[in-house]
Amino acid sequence: MLKPKPSIDTIQPYQGGKPIEEVQRELGITDIIKLASNENPLGPSPLAVQAIAESATQVHLYPDGNAYYLKSDLAQHLGISPESLILGNGSNDVLQLVAEAYLAPDDEVIYAAGAFVVYSLVTKLCSATAVVVPMVNDTHDLPAMAAAITDKTKVIFIANPNNPTGTMVTAEETAAFMEQVPDDVLVVFDEAYYEYVARSDYPQTLSYVLEGRNFIITRTFSKIYGLAGLRIGYGIAPPPLVETLNRVRQPFNCSLVGQAAARAALKDTAHVKESQKSNATGKAFLYKAFDSMGLRYVETEGNFIMLHVDQSGSDVADALLRKGVIVRPIAGYGYPDAVRVTIGTQQENERFIEALKVIKKRN
Ligand SMILES: Cc1ncc(COP(=O)(O)O)c(C=O)c1O
Repeated sequence: MLKPKPSIDTIQPYQGGKPIEEVQRELGITDIIKLASNENPLGPSPLAVQAIAESATQVHLYPDGNAYYLKSDLAQHLGISPESLILGNGSNDVLQLVAEAYLAPDDEVIYAAGAFVVYSLVTKLCSATAVVVPMVNDTHDLPAMAAAITDKTKVIFIANPNNPTGTMVTAEETAAFMEQVPDDVLVVFDEAYYEYVARSDYPQTLSYVLEGRNFIITRTFSKIYGLAGLRIGYGIAPPPLVETLNRVRQPFNCSLVGQAAARAALKDTAHVKESQKSNATGKAFLYKAFDSMGLRYVETEGNFIMLHVDQSGSDVADALLRKGVIVRPIAGYGYPDAVRVTIGTQQENERFIEALKVIKKRN
């Protein structure tokens, strides 16, 4: 067989949360709940479901490769021009476009240890060199990341909030960091969980895009908008940067159904509010349950919690799986004694806690 380029050998295939059907097949269990991929437990907006049904009769046609209407709606929603938007097949696609457009072998990419895994994947894909900076208190250490910049640095990835830790950097920390980043380094702020963040010191990074900095924000319809299965994400960046990424983008990277659903989801502010409320309630419930069990967790700004289980996280995830609850072990992120659990509906959260209590008693 033809051997791939050397950097491909260093890539471990991405391990997502186990699909419900796979657990059913492998363990013969029914009545499974999945709290492993930070999806919206309330499901998609009913308006999006209607738009999906309506667009079904049109799928013999290619989508609008430029996504005119979705970009117009998003531009209006964000108060920016459509030329500042690049759409992706999920925001992961936009992260990969950034890497493909800007990274050559030997270029350096800075990201945090314990940051979202796709930064490492796309860096390796392009045979670039990863400069991995340790976190402090499970949070991106922006001063250390700024100090890691060299003449070879091309891209810096920051997940805010970060997956799997759920932590965020503040507006003040971001401003101090941006002062130190040279103009020829591209900063990527991955804001996949933007709509869940309630803290007032969260950075409103759009200002860096509007200033024309070398800056791209990535966001997604996969999380609060409940459309993970349709794969629609986007980047917000100065128009020249968008123009570069558009050269790399596959012409029809966002499906016709996905575009229609995303437009409808964007309009359904009631669904977004309901999802925020459900997340806040679920978070409070889980914190209380963890406190009463004496388990440590990291306070989250997203729709998931990193929970220390004081034993192998993989063992606990396996035991939960056998009880029909799928969570994510995160040893691969450097947290062997933790799991990441998505905040579910009240019923799902209760079921998870009941199962966890039984497992922890056994140990
Ligand atoms: C921090 C972060 N960024 C990006 C993504 C990618 O999401 P999508 O490609 O579905 O937009 C995820 C998904 O879990 C994430 O956690």
